[in-house]
Amino acid sequence: KLSKTEILAHKNAEAELGGGQKRIDAQHKKGKLTARERIALLVDEGSFEEIGKFVMHRTRDFGMDKEHYLGDGVVTGYGTVDGRLVYVFAQDFTVFGGALSETHAEKICKLMDLAMQNGAPLIGLNDSGGARIQEGVLSLAGYADIFYRNTRASGVIPQLSAIMGPCAGGAVYSPAITDFIFMVENTSYMFVTGPNVVKTVTHETVTAEELGGASTHSTKSGVTHFSCANELACIQSIKQILSYIPQNCEDEPPRLAYEPSDESRPALNTLIPDNPNQPYDMREVIDELVDVGSFMEVHKNFAENIVVGFARIGGRSIGIVGNQPAVLAGVLDINASTKAARFVRFCDCFNVPLLVLEDVPGFLPGTDQEWNGIITNGAKLLFAFCEATVPRVTVITRKAYGGAYDVMNSKHIGADLNYAWPSAEIAVMGASGAAEIIFKREIAEAEDPQAKLQEKVLDYTEKFANPYRAAHRGYIDEVIMPAQTRQKLIRSFSMLENKVATMPKKKHGNIPL
Ligand code: COA
Repeated sequence: KLSKTEILAHKNAEAELGGGQKRIDAQHKKGKLTARERIALLVDEGSFEEIGKFVMHRTRDFGMDKEHYLGDGVVTGYGTVDGRLVYVFAQDFTVFGGALSETHAEKICKLMDLAMQNGAPLIGLNDSGGARIQEGVLSLAGYADIFYRNTRASGVIPQLSAIMGPCAGGAVYSPAITDFIFMVENTSYMFVTGPNVVKTVTHETVTAEELGGASTHSTKSGVTHFSCANELACIQSIKQILSYIPQNCEDEPPRLAYEPSDESRPALNTLIPDNPNQPYDMREVIDELVDVGSFMEVHKNFAENIVVGFARIGGRSIGIVGNQPAVLAGVLDINASTKAARFVRFCDCFNVPLLVLEDVPGFLPGTDQEWNGIITNGAKLLFAFCEATVPRVTVITRKAYGGAYDVMNSKHIGADLNYAWPSAEIAVMGASGAAEIIFKREIAEAEDPQAKLQEKVLDYTEKFANPYRAAHRGYIDEVIMPAQTRQKLIRSFSMLENKVATMPKKKHGNIPL
């Protein structure tokens, strides 16, 4: 007969084995880690405290009364990452394929409630065959309980979702509501309906990887914010993002020590090509401006005509939104607008100041864009900036044309400090387009229309293709040399540190969706 101590030890060992060694081996063979191995990589060594280790399902149908696993397919608990509290759940694929039962959902909900009450991030490591088929509607109810909590927690605590195996059907909607999704290349996929159903309904033949793998969702759909080479890289990315963000919406982002030194960045003075139609890489500007190596790009391979991500400047965490002249001339289109809008709203929820680097020729023309709603989608970015109350600074590096000038964090919509480089062109449109329109008749009637056009273009360029008209009005606070920008930004964000701005009392706004 076992002693009480032995019974406990026995149960602990049983729970830690999940669905058994054979299934653990199968998991490893697929190149995947187990739930417990993943948690061990994520949290500080020895910091994990498990909750609900002995929970079992209560189903009796389909012979389930004879098959129980302690923990019921999900490991839940809390621990620290770099000394800061986090709540983690990790689905255990070795137990019923990580499928979600009533009790499995209850464990996750309990953790979410704790995370909300105590104000710390929630991290979900997903690896699941979906609803526990033997439980029917109980499992669906469990999903809904999670979705409801995800939504209530949105904007209160950061929520991060890693997809480290299957995530299909209703299961996708919990990650979708959370702030950031991380997918592992080749071993994870997400879709609402899998390849078999797709074949039946639309007659398309597609693999799971093509339909919903990391590369699909990081390039085509934008569903995932990060595509990670393997599980270790995925967990490292989660840790890194936590280093830029606060514990909850009432907390401030972590700040690193910063020793003032020579902040001049002369390389920036020659980075913008003289020819306004020649591209350059906005990431080079970012790398010069931020603390060395601190830029963490979000949504790197989706809507590359806009660059967004976290960085530090003088030790302070900031969110950057930059037009990317190297892709589609940095034009704003539907995907770029929604990508940036979502990022701006995250930063605003969690007190991360915003830096906008602007070089935008306008919105992308065309039937594709108009018919798919560039009006509504472009409005998302405008709305997101207008709403944001965090410190907001803009640097116009080159073009700031048309409505896009207004949208990209102009002073008129609440930016705190706006700088422009001498290369800035703040106008309704490029000089040749403008001259062709306003001097149409004069040009047509001229003896040499081409020469007339040239003359008018030069005239328009002189008057408007510069930052000074805007600076005379105070729309630009200062025209600065590019080399000075880092110094200016360090001081600006320091000056804005205690900014207080509130929105009018309301239930919530109605962002165009
Ligand atoms: N409910 C209950 N058990 C499930 C399950 C689910 N939704 N999904 C998987 N399992 C079980 C399997 O029966 C199997 O059990 P076993 O270890 O006792 O044999 C185990 O999990 C592993 O599944 P398996 O199919 O062997 O793994 P795989 O890697 O080959 O395939 C899936 C993974 C997710 C593609 C596949 O299991 C699947 O299609 N599951 C059903 C998905 C679904 O339709 N879910 C409900 C709608 S959301």
